[in-house]
Amino acid sequence: SDVSDEKPIRVILANPRGFCAGVTRAIEIVDKCLELYGPPVYVRHEIVHNKHVVDSLRARGAVFVDELDEVPHGAVTVFSAHGVSKAVINDAKQRQLPVVDATCPLVSKVHKEGQNHAARGREVVLIGHAGHPEVEGTQGQIPGGVYLVSAASDVDGLVVRDPENLAYVTQTTLSVDDTREVIEALKLRFPAIVGPDVKDICYATQNRQSAVREIAREADLLLVVGSRNSSNSNRLREIGAEMGKPSFLIADAEALRPEWMEGVATVAVTAGASAPEALVQGLIDRLGDFGRVEVIEQAGVEEHTQFKLPRILQDGERIKA
Ligand code: F3S
Repeated sequence: SDVSDEKPIRVILANPRGFCAGVTRAIEIVDKCLELYGPPVYVRHEIVHNKHVVDSLRARGAVFVDELDEVPHGAVTVFSAHGVSKAVINDAKQRQLPVVDATCPLVSKVHKEGQNHAARGREVVLIGHAGHPEVEGTQGQIPGGVYLVSAASDVDGLVVRDPENLAYVTQTTLSVDDTREVIEALKLRFPAIVGPDVKDICYATQNRQSAVREIAREADLLLVVGSRNSSNSNRLREIGAEMGKPSFLIADAEALRPEWMEGVATVAVTAGASAPEALVQGLIDRLGDFGRVEVIEQAGVEEHTQFKLPRILQDGERIKA
C-alpha cells in the first residue's frame, strides 16, 4: 500500500515539559564553575537526575562524588539541585572546601519553612520518599529532625510529642493528588497541624503533572523521557498509569520497545524536569520508524520562572572556603 495513505501516528507533546528553572540554574552553575575555575570541579551527587546531563558535564571536567571525603583539599565543590543537610554543609566547612550551592531555591524555601516551624517549637512532618537526596537534605536541615511519611497509611502509626504543636512540609516533586491525600489524613489525625497545603510542590512539578493528565486522555500510550531515579519523572508516568494508559519512563529513544507501538495511533510524550529537550526530539525521530509522524504541541501554560546564579558566580570572583 502507499505509505502516504496510511494514517499518521499522532504525537502529542506536553507543554510544559522538560527542564525547570532549578535544573537550568544547576547546570549553568557547573558550567560557569568550569569556565571560571577550570576543571576539575567536584559535584556532590548527580547535579540533576539525568545521565545524559551528568555525562556531558563529566566530559568537560566535572567529577561527581557521593560524599565530600572524595574531594581533594581546596577543590571547588558544587552541591546538587536537590539540596544538602546541615551536616554536609558543616563537613564542607571543616574540610575548607570552596562551595558553590546549586540547591534549587524552591528546595531552600522548604528548608526555611521547616526551620521556622522548629524555631516556634513545632515538630515537623516531612511528606516525601525515603532515600531521595532532597528528602535526606531536608531532614538534615530541620533542627530536631522530622517524621517522614510517604503515604496516607503512614499517618496512622505516627506518634508525636505534642499534636498541638505540629507542622508539615513536603518534597518539591511529589504527586499533587497523593500529597493531598496524605495532608487530609494528617489533618484528620492532628487537626491542629499547620502547613502549606500542596504549595511546597514546585510550580514545574505541578505544571508538568497537569499537562500530562490532559494529553494522556487522548492517547493510547504515554512515554515519559527521564531517568529512573528522577522523582518528578516517575510521578508523570504514574499519572498515565492511573488513567489506565500504558505508560513508560524511558531514558532516551533507544529504550523505546517496538511492541509498545503495536496498534497505537496517538502517543503522548513528556519529559521530566531534568531531561534535556534533545532527548525528546530524538524520541520523535525514532517514532518515525513506525510510520509517518504528525507532531501536535499542546498549547499548555507558559512558564516564566527564572532563578539567578549565586552572587559569587555573577561577579566572577575567586571563591574561598
Ligand atoms: Fe526546583 Fe522544582 Fe526543578 S524544586 S529543581 S524547580 S523540579
